[in-house]
Amino acid sequence: MNAPQHFLTLLDLDSDTLRRLIERAIELKGMVQRGEIFEPLKNRTLAMVFEKSSTRTRVSFETGMAQFGGHALFLSPRDTQLGRGEPIEDTARVLSEMVDGVMIRTFEHEKIERFAEYSRVPVINALTDRFHPCQLLADMQTWFELRGDIRGAKVAWIGDGNNMCHSYINAAIRFDFRLDVACPEGYEPDADIVARAGDRVRILHDAAEAARGANLVVTDVWASMGQEEEQARREKAFAPFQVNSALMALADPDALFMHCLPAHREEEVTAEVLEGPQSVVWQEAGNRLHAQKALLEYLMA
Ligand code: CP
Ligand code: NVA
Repeated sequence: MNAPQHFLTLLDLDSDTLRRLIERAIELKGMVQRGEIFEPLKNRTLAMVFEKSSTRTRVSFETGMAQFGGHALFLSPRDTQLGRGEPIEDTARVLSEMVDGVMIRTFEHEKIERFAEYSRVPVINALTDRFHPCQLLADMQTWFELRGDIRGAKVAWIGDGNNMCHSYINAAIRFDFRLDVACPEGYEPDADIVARAGDRVRILHDAAEAARGANLVVTDVWASMGQEEEQARREKAFAPFQVNSALMALADPDALFMHCLPAHREEEVTAEVLEGPQSVVWQEAGNRLHAQKALLEYLMA
């Protein structure tokens, strides 16, 4: 049997495939809006392993599978043998005997790589400490819906060099846009991930410089899941990296604002920007459903 196609990072798929997924996501969204029933995954099952909290990811995958005529199983380490130490390799092989795909949200990226190595069914990264590729499908869909192709646009990432930032770097490679990352010293994205992007990506330590003329401004929480005890220290370091009206005023007048959510108002973004006319965060969140349906169809149908 051939190795299954996994989706652990955006780089697992080539540019053309990713662009087709975005087009397909927009089509699938139209079908839902018109009330058309489309069930390409009838009788198929997706296992969803969540080792961290989630609202959007869980609801979008579960709803997507239901709309496609399939079923999604929510598995938490608290009540599966994974939480009692059953090896990843064993779990991967057992789930592969029964389900048609596995979605995993976990801490170490290596864990999902190991799972994928032993899985006979497609594995989807639903967030690791290193990457959050599914969110980028939704972000790109939102941009394409509102502004058309993102090729050549200038994107400003303001804040932590975290999992979302890493996925933005990969998106810059695959969708061919320019990305300025502005972060405090010591919170840069991983050098090996940056290196692959060549001159498309610049790492800056000045939010204003990154935001100036940007077509899209994006941020994320200052302390990600698993970093809760660093909150106070990070609040100090990140204070000059808040996305507020003054920063947005430096961007292109038509710039959009995105945030994967959940957002912390008056920390990484002011309520004024989050609720303001340039913010597209609710459409972005809703597109998790449609973008991931396109992904599920591509990997599993
Ligand atoms: N953006 C995102 O992944 O949200 P959840 O943590 O609620 O899934
Ligand atoms: N960087 C955040 C994203 C949450 C969707 C985290 O990892 O907690």
